Amino acid sequence: MLSIDPNTQSERDNYKLLTGSIIPRPVAFVTTLSKEGVLNGAPFSYFNIVTANPPMISVSVQRQAGNQKDTARNAIGAGEFVVHISDETYVEAINETAAPLPPNESEIELAKLTPIKSEAIAVPGVQEASIRMECVLERAIPLGGTEAQPACDLLIGRVVRFHVAERLYEKGRIDAEGLQPVSRLAGNSYAKLGEQFEIVRPT
Ligand SMILES: Cc1cc2nc3c(=O)[nH]c(=O)nc-3n(C[C@H](O)[C@H](O)[C@H](O)COP(=O)(O)O)c2cc1C
Repeated sequence: MLSIDPNTQSERDNYKLLTGSIIPRPVAFVTTLSKEGVLNGAPFSYFNIVTANPPMISVSVQRQAGNQKDTARNAIGAGEFVVHISDETYVEAINETAAPLPPNESEIELAKLTPIKSEAIAVPGVQEASIRMECVLERAIPLGGTEAQPACDLLIGRVVRFHVAERLYEKGRIDAEGLQPVSRLAGNSYAKLGEQFEIVRPT
């Protein structure tokens, strides 16, 4: 086995080890509203569940040369955002939204996605997703880097409304095959849902 001390290599090399090892990662497509009312959208694969009590999710948004990305700035400013589950039907459009547009331009318009009003928050979602979650910002935690210049903003969102396509929902469970989720591997590689199997937990 190779033994690698992260302190002896570059941030880029640590990034490659993390993004190549922690796979497959689910991809959150996140919409936010700027102060000026521009609907922003971008994908994030540093994404997971925090707890179900109450339902909370996390999205880690990296800073660029110390500057917050639009998603972090808007989510912190408005205290709200929408998380959509990426799937095969609109992954190409999601990828287009990763373009680094200036804050006054909407990636949603660029990628021709369709805004849809939220019920519990002011930030719209997009209609193309089969699952979306309206979130209220529970906490934003600057982490990494230095105190003066953190490396990222860890956004913790409390889900205040789930929207699920009826065809995917049965007795409170989600049809994984029907969802066609897309996950991210390293670089430009993605993965579809693979073969499923079950393992019964010991009691
Ligand atoms: C599939 C995919 C996953 C991504 N995951 C992340 C991530 O977890 N964290 C991050 O900071 N950027 C991530 N990015 C890059 C952002 O989407 C990109 O920087 C985007 O322009 C940010 O948009 P914003 O400035 O509108 O917030 C990812 C890009 C792609 C294509």
